[in-house]
Amino acid sequence: MNTEIVKIEDAQRDLPLIRRAADVLLAGGLVALPTETVYGLAANALDKNAVRKIFAAKGRPQDNPLIVHVAGLKELEPLVARFPDKAALLAEEFWPGPLTMVLPKSGLIPDAVSAGLPTVAVRMPSHPVMRAVISVSGLPLAAPSANRSGHPSPTEARHCIDDLSGKVDMIIDGGECSVGLESTVISLACEPPLLLRPGAVTLEQLRAVLDDVECDGAVSGRMNENTQASSPGMKYKHYAPDAKITLVHGAFESFARLLSEQNGSAALVFDGEEPLLPQICCIAYGPKNDPAHQARHLFSALRELDTRGFRRVYARAPKPHGMGLAVYNRLLRAAAFDEIYL
Ligand code: TXA
Ligand code: MG
Repeated sequence: MNTEIVKIEDAQRDLPLIRRAADVLLAGGLVALPTETVYGLAANALDKNAVRKIFAAKGRPQDNPLIVHVAGLKELEPLVARFPDKAALLAEEFWPGPLTMVLPKSGLIPDAVSAGLPTVAVRMPSHPVMRAVISVSGLPLAAPSANRSGHPSPTEARHCIDDLSGKVDMIIDGGECSVGLESTVISLACEPPLLLRPGAVTLEQLRAVLDDVECDGAVSGRMNENTQASSPGMKYKHYAPDAKITLVHGAFESFARLLSEQNGSAALVFDGEEPLLPQICCIAYGPKNDPAHQARHLFSALRELDTRGFRRVYARAPKPHGMGLAVYNRLLRAAAFDEIYL
């Protein structure tokens, strides 16, 4: 398949390109495009054949359901069986933005989208390109992250080009994603509401609106292989580069000592720590006390580990609070749950 690659800097000015993307989607095709979190691989959520193409292009396991993206609450209404008061409160506070809600689904949602679950994950993104494509097409868009399944999520168009060229109809280059990690996922199909995936909307912020929110055990740990995943995506290793990563908790001095004993290993560190490890190949992913910045750069740092051919990497662990919980959650999966405390 020939993949058309276009650049959109301004959704208003580049309306003809937005229309072209909408036409591809209306014809049952696939478009990779920017959102504020990560790039998404979009298809018409109501067309099960189009949705199946997403799974084929990504190499995604069939049992991992997709998020449906809408531009407004009116378009959401027919897709869900109920929209509880708690969902309305969260929508008021955080939409449009990086929050996904799991709700009981209506009969309109194909099983291919929900992977046979009775629920559907919905999100109202804020990125102007994504919003324009939804509005012009008039379609709810199913869109997982636009990476090959198991690779780190794409935060720049070139990541999508690397992973999906020849497998999708169109890739829209809209620059770097401002958040850099996938949306927060909360289930409102249970009581109390359950945080399934941490993101830029933090657990603390959710609790400030709903006061009672539980945190799924899979957020900071490994899923038990035998238990049913509340969010199927959480059971996969995911987000992983080819390099073998160990996540290291503790002071920088202990980290430096550990690395001095590991021949040929590379390090994923905080900004400013590289000069303190002169013998070691280092990639920095942000300042130690700025999790939003770490979030923005983590996935391109993980891809760079592979570009530079590192096989064995030790990574400085972020503080798992606020948005740091999301950074920790992704790094833990990139490390296939291998972490040590010094
Ligand atoms: O920021 C994002 O959410 C990006 C952009 C493109 O919007 N999308 C994204 O999609 O990250 P994906 O498919 O990579 O991750 C969706 C996550 C998976 O962990 C999946 O298991 C979970 O949401 N999910 C989807 N539907 C669900 C449902 N009905 N119940 C529980 N979890 C669900
Ligand atoms: Mg993904």
